[in-house]
Parts: sequence; C-alpha cells; structure tokens
Amino acid sequence: MNKKLSNGVLMPMIGIGTFLVADGESAYDTVKTALEVGYRHIDTAQMYKNEQSVGDAIRDSGIPRKEIFITTKHKGHQSLPTMKKLFQESLSKLQTDYVDLYLIHWPNHDKKVNQQTWAFFESLYQEKKVRAIGVSNFQRHHLIDLMETAKIKPMVDQVELHPGLSQVPLQAYLEKEGIAIESYGPLMKGGVFEGIWGEGLGEIARKHNATIPQVIVSWGMARGVIMIPKSVTPSRILENYKSIDVHLTPEELEQINGLNRGKRVYTDPDNSPWGPYSE
Ligand SMILES: NC(=O)c1ccc[n+]([C@@H]2O[C@H](COP(=O)([O-])OP(=O)(O)OC[C@H]3O[C@@H](n4cnc5c(N)ncnc54)[C@H](OP(=O)(O)O)[C@@H]3O)[C@@H](O)[C@H]2O)c1
Repeated sequence: MNKKLSNGVLMPMIGIGTFLVADGESAYDTVKTALEVGYRHIDTAQMYKNEQSVGDAIRDSGIPRKEIFITTKHKGHQSLPTMKKLFQESLSKLQTDYVDLYLIHWPNHDKKVNQQTWAFFESLYQEKKVRAIGVSNFQRHHLIDLMETAKIKPMVDQVELHPGLSQVPLQAYLEKEGIAIESYGPLMKGGVFEGIWGEGLGEIARKHNATIPQVIVSWGMARGVIMIPKSVTPSRILENYKSIDVHLTPEELEQINGLNRGKRVYTDPDNSPWGPYSE
C-alpha cells in the first residue's frame, strides 16, 4: 500500500524504523530481514549513525534500488558547505546516488535557520538528488514560518504519533496543505501495552486475532498515516509487517482515536535541545 505524495511520488505506507539500531551486524540484519519479509521502505537518519549498514543490507538484498524507498534525515542546520558534505556522506554510506525522502530532523528554534536549510533542500530537489523533501518534528507554527520563504512545500512531516498522541488536529492541517503525515514512536516506548491503552487496544486486538502493535499500525494506515515501527527482532519485524492484513472497523478507529491523552514520550519540539547545531 502506497501514499501518493503531493509531487506524485509513491511512498510505502509501512516501513522499518532504525532508531537505536547499532551500525554493524544489528542494522545490517534488521534491514536484511525487513527486506526479506516484504518491507520496501527504510527509515534512517544521519544521527542514527547506521546508514553504512543500511546501505550494505540494501546492496546485498539483490532487490533493485528503485524498488526500495529510503528516507534519511539531515542532522542539523549548518553552513552550506557542511550541509552539502553531510548529504554526500549519506549518499556514499547508503551506496546510492539519490535519496527517496530527505527530512530536516528537528526544527531549529530560529525560523531563519530552518528557512535556510529548506532552501538547501529545495536545491537538492531541483537537482533531482532527492525524490521528495520534508520535515520532522515540525509543529504547525514551524511550518507556517517555513512557508514564508519556501518555494516548494514540504511533502511529508514525520512526527511523534501513537494512540496516546493521535495528532488528529495536526493531520487535518497537514492534509489541507497537501503534506503527508508520518508517525514515529508508534508503540509509545512500551506504553501501549499498559493502562488505558493496553486495555482498549488489547480488546480490539483479541477481536481480530491480532497483536497490539498490529492494531496500531493498521489504525495509522487506515487514517492515512505512514507507519515505521522499529524492531530488531525477526519475529516482530514480520509481525509488524503483517499489520497490512488487519482491517479495523470505523468504530474501532474512533475508539482508538479516543485514547488520545496528548501524551508525549519523546521530546517536545517546542522544548527541544536541538538547535542551533554546531558544525
Ligand atoms: N524523526 C524523529 O525524530 C524520530 C524519533 C524517534 C523515532 N523515529 C523513527 O521512528 C521509528 C519507530 O519509532 P521508535 O523506534 O521510537 O519506536 P517504536 O517503533 O514505537 O518501538 C520500538 C520498540 O518496540 C519494540 N517492539 C517493536 N515491535 C514490537 C512488537 N511487535 N511487540 C513488542 N514489542 C515490539 C522494539 O523492540 P525490539 O527492537 O527489541 O524488538 C523496540 O523496543 C524509529 O526507529 C525511527 O526510524 C524518528
């Protein structure tokens, strides 16, 4: 199942996350297993320091490059030469001459810095070195500021999104702007197995003979949200992928939306230490 981005690029609705997956055997085996079970979308980042092993696994998979969707994220807001160097490093580690989706990992607190980074992203897009460009951890106000000077609108915003933080209002805003929404942290650092979430999601999972992670991934995709659950465990990598076979009713989707408590388990982008970055 694909999401059609505003520029027509097709992005698989399910991908494998690789945050905290160590470079070397762990990242290599994770990506290799994911590709074997059917994933065609990999989410990495310069800050994860595992692009080399991700690239090795893609190369050794034997799957043609154009059949795999690679997202990586720019780690900071530096001078133009440094940003160019970082992008080239990503290409070289990933062993590719283009990236499918390039994201600004975190907004800087200074809107001018975000605007300058975005101008660099636009140049990469125009030079066809990236098939799509977007942002991550951008709240509505960050996007409004970015669009003051943007010539090209971001195509994706990757944000914390799970049953405890359903992001329904942000999704409505993004959809109005033609920006696809992507979820990270779908399992709430384990919180989805506990309390009201464990109870509510567990009940729905039992009805579908599915697991809680599968219900969450299915819920996200049914809402049009791109999902990238992370696991280094082969059985879970498969289990999460099999979410594509779980189909929830409209009432169940609403029931899960009702579990929203505005609960963040990751850093609040408005209160982050992420910027300004040093060289
Ligand atoms: N843009 C950003 O700032 C940002 C921030 C955070 C994450 N992300 C991206 O989003 C991806 C997903 O988020 P995440 O890594 O934070 O967390 P996640 O996908 O919500 O959860 C990963 C954790 O859940 C466990 N898990 C996975 N599948 C499971 C299953 N079926 N049953 C039970 N436990 C399961 C994993 O354990 P094992 O691995 O041990 O199996 C791991 O501890 C990241 O990997 C990264 O690519 C982006």
